[in-house]
Amino acid sequence: MGIEIRLASLDDIKGIVDAHCSSVSKWFKRVGGKEVEAKYEDLTVIERFSLGGPWMSAETCAIHINNLLLNGQYPLIALLNGKIVGELEFYVGEEKGILGNCGFIDVLEVHKSFRRRGVGKALVNKAKEIAKEHECDTVAVWPDKEAIEFYRRCGLSEPAYSITHAEIDLNRVKTKVRERYTINKFPESHEPLKEMNFLTPRILTSFAAWLKSRLETVVERDRLLSVRGCVKELQSCYVIETLWNDKEAAKLYLWVHKFREVSSVLNVVFGMAKEVGIAKLQLLMNEDIYRDLIMKYPHKVLHHEVILMKELK
Ligand SMILES: CC(C)(COP(=O)(O)OP(=O)(O)OC[C@H]1O[C@@H](n2cnc3c(N)ncnc32)[C@H](O)[C@@H]1OP(=O)(O)O)[C@@H](O)C(=O)NCCC(=O)NCCS
Repeated sequence: MGIEIRLASLDDIKGIVDAHCSSVSKWFKRVGGKEVEAKYEDLTVIERFSLGGPWMSAETCAIHINNLLLNGQYPLIALLNGKIVGELEFYVGEEKGILGNCGFIDVLEVHKSFRRRGVGKALVNKAKEIAKEHECDTVAVWPDKEAIEFYRRCGLSEPAYSITHAEIDLNRVKTKVRERYTINKFPESHEPLKEMNFLTPRILTSFAAWLKSRLETVVERDRLLSVRGCVKELQSCYVIETLWNDKEAAKLYLWVHKFREVSSVLNVVFGMAKEVGIAKLQLLMNEDIYRDLIMKYPHKVLHHEVILMKELK
């Protein structure tokens, strides 16, 4: 029988979790500050989550997939002889810039025992088909380094963004008071953001970043601190979200209307982050933004990444 691709439902959760967990050869638990090998069954839902995200347990995976479905996005599964052997998550949304109306592949996992049989390619082809139905200009992905050749063979080979992942040391940044700015609510819809320039985290599309910054997973709710809003006078929107298990470090989501406002916006955002006790702020931006606007702040570079795309029109 051939490979069947369809939209996932909550009945598929066990198969999706099995496919994702197939990559994990050993499970670990922290006991007395040390990591010790453990059985999957002996880990709590939170311990599993911390080893690989929401796909590691049925409890968290169901919430995650439900979030995507309720927001009209595309968790796709691949079946071989009725068995779930892979999953791909796909977001469709419009933005300013090179990607335009873009279908974004956010997650792709093929069960370890079923790789190199065309499953991954079949999932990517289905994603391209959906993108065409939505009249997308591009399909894009932030590939793992090991998967770049796979995506090239699937036709996603054109670099869209070359990204620098930098961490700003806020303790060494001087910020001015922000009293003169009006902070409005972060948008409930992506509409106003699609007219703006999305700067970070540029490993996502503007739409995927907006949606992800709004989705709650039960595990993260109590652990993540999130500060969000729009600076009216600078026509820019931000989300500052602490990293998993480290409330002193955060990632920044940022949309601006005008590039010349970036330094003023960063001054406001850095000040807010410091106020809530954040010492390190991570930005993932295209290299020209890094070079022209970010490099001047005290920082260290953590990684370099690439976004690949395929034009559909
Ligand atoms: C990357 C991954 C999705 C590929 O899935 P797959 O089902 O094994 O890939 P396919 O069998 O559909 O391969 C499609 C093409 O890519 C090639 N390919 C697949 N994996 C490759 C790899 N790791 N390196 C080089 N080429 C690869 C195949 O040879 C095939 O080439 P062809 O079309 O010229 O014959 C799978 O290995 C996986 O789940 N890896 C772990 C998670 C991961 O890295 N996901 C991507 C995150 S962005």
